[in-house]
Amino acid sequence: MRIKLVAGNWKMNGTLATNQALLQALVPALARVVGVKCAICAPFPYLAQVQQLLSGTGLAWGAQNVSQFDAGAYTGEVSGAMLVDFGCRYVIVGHSERRALFGETSETVAEKYAAALKAGLTPILCVGETLADREAGYTEPVVAAQLAPVLAASGAQSFAHAVIAYEPVWAIGTGKTATPEQAQAVHAYIRTRLATHDAAVAEKVQVLYGGSVKGSNAAQLFGMPDIDGGLIGGASLDANEMAVICRAASPAS
Ligand code: 13P
Repeated sequence: MRIKLVAGNWKMNGTLATNQALLQALVPALARVVGVKCAICAPFPYLAQVQQLLSGTGLAWGAQNVSQFDAGAYTGEVSGAMLVDFGCRYVIVGHSERRALFGETSETVAEKYAAALKAGLTPILCVGETLADREAGYTEPVVAAQLAPVLAASGAQSFAHAVIAYEPVWAIGTGKTATPEQAQAVHAYIRTRLATHDAAVAEKVQVLYGGSVKGSNAAQLFGMPDIDGGLIGGASLDANEMAVICRAASPAS
């Protein structure tokens, strides 16, 4: 049985004051939630604060992006080693906002994924189709094309140390959640795709769902056989909502 992971993606939100209030409410709310891993992916400048507030709690933390380069003359970039320096366990790579707004190609994403693994981080690799892709019947080929450069560069075995997040672009920040059945179908497809390379790794890899997950729909989504937790945007900024979502992922719930 795969342990579920619920990761909050704060995106470009927060201040020192609001982060502190949020985490000080979240940590005690999650204290008795068992059998589920929870993590927060914070903006770079707040990683030191998150490290300070979450060290010694059951919560892990991570970043939302990482450079594909190790070190050197790359102004404005942040390396995997720097993230490790601040205690990060996870880093999101290939979020659809980075693909759509910052020109990240699946090849760049594959380089970032490899850089994260090399630094000892667990990449959370995001894939997902747009509404136009879905309506044209291209969901599976789009997801396959996003996975392909990662499989080519790092191999299927690398997914023993990675997490996948299926985030349909049309469900992100829109309030439109994929139905549990729609999400399950793509999660199963992702696992089948990996299984053509390595069946054991495909069975073990956590595949998270992201896109308008809330306290009110989390349990249904997490009840599907191939949904191993969630990547939570807006709702992760609310301690109560995030706690409800994490509880919904607990086998004790
Ligand atoms: P929302 O939960 O706000 O839809 O965002 C999902 C997401 O993009 C998480 O990475």
